[in-house]
Amino acid sequence: MKALLCHAWGVADDLKVEEAPTPSPGPGQVLIEVGATAVNYADSIMLAGHYQTKPPFPFSPGMETAGTVAACGDGVADLVPGNRVMSILPYGGMAEQTLAEASDTFRIPESMPITDAGAFPGAYLSSHVAVRWAGRLEAGESLLVLGAAGGVGLAAVEIGKALGARVIAAASTAEKLAAAEAHGADDLINYGDGDLKEQVLALTGGAGVDMAYDPVGGDLFHAALSSLAWGGRIVVVGFVGGIPQIPANRLVVKHRAVMGSCLPYYQRRALDKFRRSGQELLDWYAAGHIRPLISQCLPLARGGEGINLLTERRAHGRILILPNGADDLDG
Ligand SMILES: NC(=O)c1ccc[n+]([C@@H]2O[C@H](COP(=O)([O-])OP(=O)(O)OC[C@H]3O[C@@H](n4cnc5c(N)ncnc54)[C@H](OP(=O)(O)O)[C@@H]3O)[C@@H](O)[C@H]2O)c1
Repeated sequence: MKALLCHAWGVADDLKVEEAPTPSPGPGQVLIEVGATAVNYADSIMLAGHYQTKPPFPFSPGMETAGTVAACGDGVADLVPGNRVMSILPYGGMAEQTLAEASDTFRIPESMPITDAGAFPGAYLSSHVAVRWAGRLEAGESLLVLGAAGGVGLAAVEIGKALGARVIAAASTAEKLAAAEAHGADDLINYGDGDLKEQVLALTGGAGVDMAYDPVGGDLFHAALSSLAWGGRIVVVGFVGGIPQIPANRLVVKHRAVMGSCLPYYQRRALDKFRRSGQELLDWYAAGHIRPLISQCLPLARGGEGINLLTERRAHGRILILPNGADDLDG
């Protein structure tokens, strides 16, 4: 099979398409014929050798995928070859075939295009577990989403709306905010228009928001923390803008809370919640409440370019890599 391979810690430009052995599924695993794999910011961190998972060389990036089950390992009960699926992966999605744990894999409805499924699991599952289980967002509450046109950010906007919240989307450009509005955001904040906290207070009658969703970190974390209402929660999922230090006094003053949310926690230690999240998201998709934004589809050889679009802050929604070409998708 062909795979986009990383031979040493470095940058996305070093990736090359090469021949690689087709992996064989072990117990509890499935082999997936890859249709579409979305790019994640964390792909760049893994390639640099700074991610918690450090795969043996050579490896392919790609932390999620959608395609067709080609083979099943021992002990896989709920999936058979031919099933259309989406899955969260440790890595390896930027290849013609890849391995996934069956417990991290979801069957998708016949009506769901493989491109939508490829754009789906990483962003929606990461944001769903963060918003629903860590942040415990309730209908009628307000939710501030930073990086609201990014992969996980745009998913959080839609999830907030599906849960019945008022969603305030924050991003760096008018184009990104237009994407957030098209996906349901009630109010929009451009960082360039002034202090984030002042803009949030103006939109909420001085009260602040009940919850903030933060995939960005850096100075924006502190502004979002200050934007919380009494009893507000901020859920931290990522640090593309730097790792903030948390001053405990600012939590006590208004009875605020900071929570971390990490998708692998749910996969490995709260599987019931992980599976319930996947099912609720697929139900919302079937009902038309959520729809991934796919801004570009690229061939395998341009996978590195896709990763660079995220690190250069030029992406909105999801960038897809199509290892087997676009012609055969969805039969
Ligand atoms: N904890 C978890 O379970 C989990 C799961 C998935 C992803 N993540 C993390 O979430 C973060 C976002 O991932 P993603 O795949 O959604 O990325 P993405 O699509 O690139 O979105 C990130 C957003 O952050 C903003 N941003 C601010 N400063 C940036 C910078 N210096 N470089 C790039 N973007 C910057 C950009 O929006 P503006 O231009 O509008 O500011 C961009 O849209 C990453 O840190 C990732 O590791 C965490």
